[in-house]
Amino acid sequence: MNERAITVSGLSKTFHTGYEELVIFENLDFDIPAASRVAITGESGCGKSTLLNILGGLESPTSGSVRAGPYEVSSLGERELTEYRGGYLGLVFQFHYLLKDFTALENVMLPALMAGVKRREALERARQLLSDVRLEHRLDHLPSRMSGGERQRAAVARALVNSPSLILADEPTGNLDPDNSALVRDILFDVVSRYGKALVLVTHDREMAAQADIAWRLTKNGLVGA
Ligand SMILES: Nc1ncnc2c1ncn2[C@@H]1O[C@H](COP(=O)(O)OP(=O)(O)OP(=O)(O)O)[C@@H](O)[C@H]1O
Ligand SMILES: [Mg+2]
Repeated sequence: MNERAITVSGLSKTFHTGYEELVIFENLDFDIPAASRVAITGESGCGKSTLLNILGGLESPTSGSVRAGPYEVSSLGERELTEYRGGYLGLVFQFHYLLKDFTALENVMLPALMAGVKRREALERARQLLSDVRLEHRLDHLPSRMSGGERQRAAVARALVNSPSLILADEPTGNLDPDNSALVRDILFDVVSRYGKALVLVTHDREMAAQADIAWRLTKNGLVGA
């Protein structure tokens, strides 16, 4: 079996600013095998977030294609795009984006409820995932009453609640101190492996990259082995 979580062909991105063309990357070809964990590193400004945003359907490429399961990402309409982001993908960013008026449990349940999952089932999934990220004692806490590391772990749980095939994470430990960084890193790798998800992770953290199955560096010459 040769299943892929995502297949990228001839992907290029150029930003057109007032007077210049900024070529970020050109003609990237790669695929992410199902259930594999890939780390992407590279200098600040080389285009890592831009690449991840394109994979996530949050930005359009200048040319090329992104195929993910049944989705041809660059040609999806609004409704399919929402379905892709909310169902096929789980997203984790440097900032947690938890809703401040909702508890940890509610924040994790919400994407499931929005996808039409019954309340009881959503509750069960959210409890299990919060326990997987070792937050079973923080279910009723608002984000303001959680530590930075706890908020990121809640964001990881939320990313998994609709059982996505692929988790995209952009510097998920970027705002954390070394101890919390290590904990979030270990928990993230642990849950994606346990649930058999693919992970594409952008990180400046060498230890995090070293833990991945595949490590690439984004350079002027494209993606190279790190
Ligand atoms: N909307 C935009 N218009 C013009 N240029 C942009 C736009 N968005 C990003 N860029 C430029 O594209 C380049 C890549 O940005 P990107 O955010 O992808 O880098 P990055 O590798 O994630 O950097 P970092 O490690 O600092 O997060 C940068 O030089 C940035 O200034
Ligand atoms: Mg970035």
